Amino acid sequence: MSMGKPLTRLDGADKVTGRARYAADQPLPDALHAVYVTAPIPAGRVTSIDSAEALAHPGVVRVLTARDMPRLKAASAPPAASVFMPLQEDEIRHEGQPVALVLAETLQAAEHGARLVRVGYAPGAFIPQGAGEPVEPRESGYVLGPAHFAKGDLDAGLATAALRHEARYTQPSRHHNPMEPCATLARWDGDQLTVFDSVQHIAGTQGTLAEAFGLKPEQVRVICPHTGGGFGCKAYTWPHEFLAAAAAKVAGRPVKLVLTRAQMYANVSYQPRVEQTVTLGATSEGRLTGIGQDVINQTSVSDDYVEYATEAGRSLYATPTLRTSQRVRRGHVNIPSPMRAPVEGPGSFAMGCAVDELSRQVGIDPLDFRLLNYAENDPADGKPWSSKKLREAYDEGARRFGWRTRAKGGTREGDWLLGCGMADCTMGAFRFGSTVRLRLRADGTALLEGSSADIGTGGLTALPQIVSESLGIPVEAVTFTAGDSRLPTTGPTYGSSTIVCTGSAILDAATKIREQVARAADVRPEELEIRDGMVRRKGGGAGRPLGEVLRRAGLSELSAEGKFAPNGEAANMSGLGTPYAMRTFGAVFVEVAVDPELGLLRLRRMVGAYSVGRIINPRTARSQIIGGMIWGWGMAAMEQSEHEPKLGRWLSKNLSGVAIPVNADIPSALDVIFVDEFDDKVSPLGAKGLGEIGATGVSAAIANAVYDAVGIRVRDLPITPDKLLAQ
Ligand code: MOS
Repeated sequence: MSMGKPLTRLDGADKVTGRARYAADQPLPDALHAVYVTAPIPAGRVTSIDSAEALAHPGVVRVLTARDMPRLKAASAPPAASVFMPLQEDEIRHEGQPVALVLAETLQAAEHGARLVRVGYAPGAFIPQGAGEPVEPRESGYVLGPAHFAKGDLDAGLATAALRHEARYTQPSRHHNPMEPCATLARWDGDQLTVFDSVQHIAGTQGTLAEAFGLKPEQVRVICPHTGGGFGCKAYTWPHEFLAAAAAKVAGRPVKLVLTRAQMYANVSYQPRVEQTVTLGATSEGRLTGIGQDVINQTSVSDDYVEYATEAGRSLYATPTLRTSQRVRRGHVNIPSPMRAPVEGPGSFAMGCAVDELSRQVGIDPLDFRLLNYAENDPADGKPWSSKKLREAYDEGARRFGWRTRAKGGTREGDWLLGCGMADCTMGAFRFGSTVRLRLRADGTALLEGSSADIGTGGLTALPQIVSESLGIPVEAVTFTAGDSRLPTTGPTYGSSTIVCTGSAILDAATKIREQVARAADVRPEELEIRDGMVRRKGGGAGRPLGEVLRRAGLSELSAEGKFAPNGEAANMSGLGTPYAMRTFGAVFVEVAVDPELGLLRLRRMVGAYSVGRIINPRTARSQIIGGMIWGWGMAAMEQSEHEPKLGRWLSKNLSGVAIPVNADIPSALDVIFVDEFDDKVSPLGAKGLGEIGATGVSAAIANAVYDAVGIRVRDLPITPDKLLAQ
């Protein structure tokens, strides 16, 4: 009986005491340690590999090159991250690509051995990040929506506009940098593969490994009890996962491959550099007559990852005309991927700034501008929303922030000039098919089983809360066994979808269990009430203990499988193919201080109000949102992964030379509001998903607040001191 309660994390003690085992912690006797030898050039070929010296080093067992590796079938991307697989041929497509794998009895021997491998290269011409021509994305698995979209005639819409705004907004590439680096331990037992892995999607990893090695999915077991953060860079299956398994096969021994922090930069992904041109037209009163949004993102030479920032342009504001486009710039870099918050994260930055700029031209408050252009239906296709309480979020957020009574922009406080800004937040509702098994035992305890990967977002607490609530037992009586592909298949832990999808499968299982309890208690299911472990007829007496009901019916336990299949499909994006458009919404309000003499920017306070459906655990939900707000501050003010154009490599492949938010950057005044909402179209649970929306809108609100404070419009993230001193 705990849904809606702010329980602290059930897995908290395990994590802070080190009892929680992550992939590289798993004991795997007899395992060889694998270390990558990586290419120092961004393009070209390997011409020779001399392993003699490495093999002579004590402890080194094998040096595997493309010649030794089995030919892996290209697994479909996604869920494989890329159609390109290193160590299959001599070609180099990006700096940091593995060209050999050293296997040794100890990590130290493998690391030393990797330095002794002599590799000859023939460097080739290369295209640095940002230098490729913008081209139409080709289908390599990432074209998930229209590259071009139009509603009405944008040119005609802009022609009728009294006021126009057109500007280009850019953001740099940024890396995910989860605390736990990627790690894969692979073991073969005959033709059965077991991997201990750090992933966000257990079934996806199982399927792609099976595909690559020509196995049936049941021949691959993926075990991942905990993942130490992912943010999207563990969502898909990366080369190190395939290569660890291949190396174990060749060596005939288990293999442990842990990427170093530096190797994470070029061997898994990042959010790509995005350039967006936004064109808006409005009447003199501020009513939009047209929205244009053209987006170009960086991608690799192998795959066209598309960052669908235009989702923001198509979903935020009411407009009679709309035209959007998505293009990519290919180059010799590793492939980017979704990063919290993908799609609308970049999109809400450009749209949130552009709308602020236009509302200033019109001469009305940016909140009033948004109310004037409130999208009552999906602006792209006119479908009704499954739920949308953005008006309530605006009201409550503005009230809590004091938006209507804020100090005038540029108000001085010592050396600091104050400014306020706001922006819209939104994410599509990603829904994935999920199955769980639920057992209710005669002792009143329950066991929940699902393959679900825990990435530290609170699911290990909130999902048992749903069991507790629906079976009327205390949350302490619920055990959740997760993180293993042998368990019933839940959806992935990405797309802010875990609670919605796995939670809805739990509800389905619990409904079936309740029917069984009703039969055992001889009560009609609709009259059944289970509370605090007691079974009774609604309005009846004290009832009987659950255990007694089961025993009398000769049952030791009840068991049911629960399913969630969005729109009857394996996956559904934002209600496509349903009568409804499905999204989360919100608004974020910030106050910043700028020291114009030194170019310093400080966050003073932030209020976010969200329409995200039902909240299962207000504490873990709030933590997700403030994590997103801080992540958004990083995007706005600090983070950029520099890619050196002459050498074609990432600079500062570590966390020491990179600015990311720390406690000292973040004030305690982060305020999170959830409007009361239940969306029965997105899920029977009523939830819509909230893991990532907190990271949307923030960078726009900050850029808008900076303009309010000092009149400098920064359209090129991050907002570093040089840009505040420039004028
Ligand atoms: Mo998030 S980028 O869906 O892990």
